Amino acid sequence: MMKKFLTFIILILLLLSIIIWLNLPKITPYYTQLTKTRIGLNFDLQPESQKDAHFIGSKKCQECHEENYHDWGNSMHAKMIQTIKTDPSVVVADFTKLPEDADFTLAQAVYTIGSKFKQRYMIPAQINGKEDFRLGNYQWNSQNKKWQSFKPYKYWYKDAYPHDNKSFPTSTTCDGCHFTGYMSTGKREELSISCESCHGPGSKHVKDPKNAIFKASLSDPMRTNEVCFQCHMRNRDKRMETQDATSKDLWMDAKDYPDGYEPGKPLINYKLPAPFSPGEETKEFWANGAAKKNRTQGNEYIHDRMYKHGITCINCHNPHKLTNTAKKPEGNDACMKCHAFGSIIGPHQDRLEDHTQHKANSKGSLCIECHMPKTAKHTGKSPLTVRSHLFTFTYPAQTKAYGMPPETNACYACHKDKTLKSLQDDLKNWGKLEWEKLELSNTSF
Ligand code: HEC
Ligand code: HEC
Ligand code: HEC
Ligand code: HEC
Ligand code: HEC
Ligand code: HEC
Ligand code: HEC
Ligand code: HEC
Repeated sequence: MMKKFLTFIILILLLLSIIIWLNLPKITPYYTQLTKTRIGLNFDLQPESQKDAHFIGSKKCQECHEENYHDWGNSMHAKMIQTIKTDPSVVVADFTKLPEDADFTLAQAVYTIGSKFKQRYMIPAQINGKEDFRLGNYQWNSQNKKWQSFKPYKYWYKDAYPHDNKSFPTSTTCDGCHFTGYMSTGKREELSISCESCHGPGSKHVKDPKNAIFKASLSDPMRTNEVCFQCHMRNRDKRMETQDATSKDLWMDAKDYPDGYEPGKPLINYKLPAPFSPGEETKEFWANGAAKKNRTQGNEYIHDRMYKHGITCINCHNPHKLTNTAKKPEGNDACMKCHAFGSIIGPHQDRLEDHTQHKANSKGSLCIECHMPKTAKHTGKSPLTVRSHLFTFTYPAQTKAYGMPPETNACYACHKDKTLKSLQDDLKNWGKLEWEKLELSNTSF
């Protein structure tokens, strides 16, 4: 009798836990990540055994980590810098159409930089008494398949470098982010963004795997992002903060990357993010903090609530494949692996249609169309294709008040026949909250 009763109780309990489990918010698996102790931005996380290690190259890692190597090898990170001599097919440009006033030829170029959106060319040059590389004065725009003029001195450091590409070096201005190891050793240890760009120098780990190697996801989730921020963020030379130096004082030496940083070290000691104050438009950001240029994912993301609550770049991007981490990466699954209708983290409405006010199968019901509008371009002449990593919704009235072009507004991008005002009215009619002043902090990451 007692036995039967006990079995009954156990069955009931089992059933109850299944019901509870099925009803847990989707975000539950992330609770450990989100509630991890925040150790702060100043703590050095680099394992002791890595302090005197040197760079060894991805081929070594492949010997024991074949799968990671394979995933990475097929990603764009492995293809950033490519050697023209070994494989001429890496050149995506049409050199027969290169304008006559080009200051370089294909035969002079050694490396290609990029391919997907634009391609630039590295040419060996003696600059400032040192073997270096310079950039051709034309770049190939892969999006509209045209050559266009390229003058890198126009970045933030125009007082720090000569305005002639022939004496403008790539070492201090580009190579820290496109070659592995350059950021910390000043040597081009390996082409492109390879294993040790994110895991740090690996010689001691390779000798004996018991020697730890840095893995960004092991502690404070806010710190996880730093391996990505080192490159995916616009910045200024750190010396401009501590020594009150202007870019003029850093003639031929203004560094456009966090000089000296290695994964695990506190990035904040090496990086000065590009300045931004809410409400003020700059060369790099719209007045709401959204990107005007590419390579601003980190600058935008540090203003977002998801960042503050411990969601990281690698929750959405596989760090090796770079693809979306959702089971079904297409459409809304990318977001719905954590979000659920009527859940605590939102959307607060119970149905997709109630949240978006568009038919479920409409483009107007795709999360990223409204929460990651295309606000930036890869070059001045490129189409608007760079999606914002400021996930909070920007209302049409905000777009107007901030003086942003209407095309950067999610609603207007699909409804060019309407005005920002009438789109704002639509939202009001749908009962969406009235726009309140955007809470953007100017804190560093
Ligand atoms: C001789 C084989 C070998 C080589 C070569 C090797 N690893 Fe490992 N690696 C291992 C083993 C074994 C582990 C698991 C160690 C453990 O769990 O204690 C590991 C673990 C790791 C981890 C996870 C660390 C953690 O704390 O979870 C990373 C990251 C890593 N390796 C990166 C690399 C990189 C980058 C390279 C190239 C520089 C590399 N490995 C080369 C054998 C190797
Ligand atoms: C863009 C940065 C980046 C690059 C490049 C990179 N990794 Fe990783 N790797 C990470 C991050 C971040 C994690 C932690 C992933 C997690 O916890 O979900 C990781 C995890 C690992 C792990 C632990 C096991 C796993 O798969 O989670 C190994 C082993 C590893 N990486 C090896 C490599 C090797 C070998 C290469 C080069 C072929 C490489 N990584 C290139 C960022 C990178
Ligand atoms: C050392 C610099 C560097 C680091 C570190 C780095 N990236 Fe990148 N990343 C790049 C560059 C450069 C490109 C452009 C590559 C190209 O187009 O060939 C890129 C491209 C990408 C892309 C676009 C891929 C595509 O197929 O278009 C994603 C996504 C990305 N990175 C995510 C990350 C994440 C997540 C991390 C951190 C885990 C990270 N990156 C760390 C430099 C870096
Ligand atoms: C702080 C790191 C950093 C510096 C410095 C940097 N880049 Fe990049 N670059 C990136 C990242 C990250 C990406 C990819 C992300 C994106 O475009 O949004 C990228 C993308 C590119 C692309 C487009 C790749 C493609 O496949 O279309 C080109 C070309 C490029 N960079 C050239 C340069 C040149 C030339 C310089 C120097 C004048 C330079 N970069 C300086 C980090 C950097
Ligand atoms: C909440 C999810 C999410 C987070 C967090 C996130 N991303 Fe993305 N990211 C996306 C989506 C979605 C896209 C667009 C993919 C597409 O257009 O197909 C994207 C696109 C990109 C691209 C390609 C840009 C281009 O112009 O093609 C890069 C590079 C990138 N992310 C880097 C990062 C970095 C670095 C971080 C951390 C600072 C980050 N992302 C954080 C979801 C995320
Ligand atoms: C790994 C889990 C995870 C993924 C994937 C994810 N989110 Fe979130 N999201 C969160 C959490 C946690 C919050 C924090 C809720 C809060 O602060 O109230 C949040 C908050 C938000 C917010 C409100 C805060 C703000 O910044 O305005 C928006 C909007 C949002 N997410 C959009 C998206 C979109 C769009 C995607 C897909 C590209 C996405 N999220 C993917 C976990 C996730
Ligand atoms: C048609 C545009 C549109 C689409 C598509 C859209 N959202 Fe939103 N979203 C909004 C607006 C507008 C707000 C601001 C809500 C408010 O202020 O009441 C918002 C707010 C949110 C918030 C903050 C919490 C809340 O409910 O206010 C989250 C989280 C969110 N959206 C996630 C998503 C996800 C996930 C998807 C895809 C399933 C999505 N959104 C699709 C317009 C959209
Ligand atoms: C990715 C494209 C896309 C985005 C973003 C988008 N819409 Fe739509 N919208 C559509 C399409 C397509 C329809 C056609 C009917 C449908 O699918 O529901 C539509 C229909 C509508 C309608 C009803 C029909 C009409 O034209 O009067 C209104 C009102 C509307 N959208 C307003 C908005 C507002 C406000 C936003 C921003 C919060 C927005 N839309 C964002 C594509 C979009």
